Amino acid sequence: MTDIKTQLKEFNQVFTPYLESLFNFPQGPEKKVMEAGRYSLTNGGKRLRPFLVYRCAALFGVPLFPAPAQIGASLEMLHTYSLIHDDLPAMDNDDLRRGHPTCHKQYGEATAILAGDGLLTEAFRLIATAPLSAEIRCQLTEKLSFLAGWQQGMIAGQCLDLYAETAPKDINQEKLIADIEEMKTGALIRYACEAGAIIGKANEKQFEALSTYARKIGTAFQIVDDILDVEGDAALMGKTLGKDAVQGKATFVSCYGLEQAKEIAQKLITEAKESLKVFSFGAEPLAELADYIYSRNI
Ligand code: IPE
Ligand code: IPE
Ligand code: MG
Ligand code: MG
Ligand code: MG
Repeated sequence: MTDIKTQLKEFNQVFTPYLESLFNFPQGPEKKVMEAGRYSLTNGGKRLRPFLVYRCAALFGVPLFPAPAQIGASLEMLHTYSLIHDDLPAMDNDDLRRGHPTCHKQYGEATAILAGDGLLTEAFRLIATAPLSAEIRCQLTEKLSFLAGWQQGMIAGQCLDLYAETAPKDINQEKLIADIEEMKTGALIRYACEAGAIIGKANEKQFEALSTYARKIGTAFQIVDDILDVEGDAALMGKTLGKDAVQGKATFVSCYGLEQAKEIAQKLITEAKESLKVFSFGAEPLAELADYIYSRNI
């Protein structure tokens, strides 16, 4: 079996051309917004979330094409919309993403906002048209709306992330930070694994195992993002680093310091792998991926 980094790379080589094939451009000047969406979607990115959809569905013998690929593409579009908006001047104000100028730097702010809106909207069309039963499509629609949403999902997490920049210092920082990481990043990673389980028709025990795995790696993934913001290599990461401290972001590093943040992430990874024990075989790539999330430098 090839190592997980190679597996992700090979997946990316298949998946990115597939993403490109999903664009059907209009003829008029309105095509600019789709060009901007495709620019941000297809130029770089690890494709971690669609890989998770694929590997979780594969546990139950479901091949990548057609359904996990389409559900993974839908999620990668929604994730990319969250990045375009996260980079806007009103939010993190970033110039570089995935090794290229951010969407608003390349196309202007108004088009970037619309490109994010377009990717978000298209994500739900892809679920609605996926080759899956109506019941499963409905389940996935509800789950993605919730986990990407404003109650406990990605949008709620992004709102807390901004709130924390100016929040009074005497509030419960540990709770705030745990909520931010779980919601702004953990929620979409959780969706990836739960969607794979749903496509694979997992039983309750299997579903719970994948959901637990996802919650653990989801928080660990954002803790490592926070760590890399301090000690990562900007050229490898393809984004500007060292900004969390400057912008007064509440992160695991700001709250616990680097060493303890690493210990917390490592513990979550160990627990994530524990939860895979219900699968007698086929879960090795997910276990390796958990380790990779901790050791990654991109
Ligand atoms: C970046 O996500 C934003 C976070 C949620 C930390 P990724 O690190 O998965 O970014 P891409 O998709 O590989 O560019
Ligand atoms: C972004 O978190 C999370 C989402 C886009 C939902 P960050 O702001 O830490 O991500 P980067 O560091 O810009 O990739
Ligand atoms: Mg942010
Ligand atoms: Mg950011
Ligand atoms: Mg970050």
